[in-house]
Amino acid sequence: MSVQSTIRRKTAPDIFARKNGEPIVMLTSYHAHTAALVDRYCDVILVGDSLGNVMHGFETTLPVTLEMMILQGRAVMRGSQAALVVVDMPFGSYEASKEQAFMSAARILKETHCGAVKLEGGVRMAETIEFLTTRGIPVMGHIGLTPQSINTLGSFRSQGRAEAEALARGDNEGGPIQNDALAVAQAGAFSVVVEAVAEPLARKITETIAIPTIGIGASAACDGQVLVLEDMLGLSARVPKFVKRFGNLGPMIEAAIEGYATEVRARSFPGPEHVYGTKPKA
Ligand code: KIV
Repeated sequence: MSVQSTIRRKTAPDIFARKNGEPIVMLTSYHAHTAALVDRYCDVILVGDSLGNVMHGFETTLPVTLEMMILQGRAVMRGSQAALVVVDMPFGSYEASKEQAFMSAARILKETHCGAVKLEGGVRMAETIEFLTTRGIPVMGHIGLTPQSINTLGSFRSQGRAEAEALARGDNEGGPIQNDALAVAQAGAFSVVVEAVAEPLARKITETIAIPTIGIGASAACDGQVLVLEDMLGLSARVPKFVKRFGNLGPMIEAAIEGYATEVRARSFPGPEHVYGTKPKA
């Protein structure tokens, strides 16, 4: 008898097959409870290393560890049942060598049971992506603004404006970001996140490469879109220009906490309906 669930999770090949098709909907989640909600509407749940900023209050994603990603990846897998779950490889867990990347990615897959990993970098990571994908590890790429490189980039500003201007002048030779996109696709990634890249360039990349592009601050022409859940729910204090707030949960949560504090101080909570009396007679 099979003990497998009857609901079939989406796979990396399912997402790859969506190139030029129905837009891919992706959001981040780090917890079982938000994963259950996101799972109802999204094709892909990203356990992003943005959890370092969002959950832990770090300035950057650099302090995030493999253990942190695995812990939250397991929670998201328990909370979801239909979406493809992709877990970010944190800074320092894959850049030293392709062998290091394989050992880290294998741990993520074994210990979370997720369906794919994501790593940052284009041309410089192509050899690693090929090493992983030819050994059974589906990889989502991430190019453009790559937050793990903040110390070399210098700031979180958008990428590829000069390259987009060159395109507009009819120079289609291909600059660094186009080369990154091509390298990731040719290395065997099943999709690629394109972050904070000038719109005409993100559009051109989407038209050029054979794998789905998932935009964040990129272009409506991308094959899909991703946002950080807490940003689009209005729970983050500062958000980049590309975030649209689809909700404003911050004030609602604050009002609920204020109400609770007021009632506890006034001894009006718990009420009679929230406490246990003596055992009813049989
Ligand atoms: O870590 C993350 O949440 C991400 C998304 C912003 C794409 O990489």
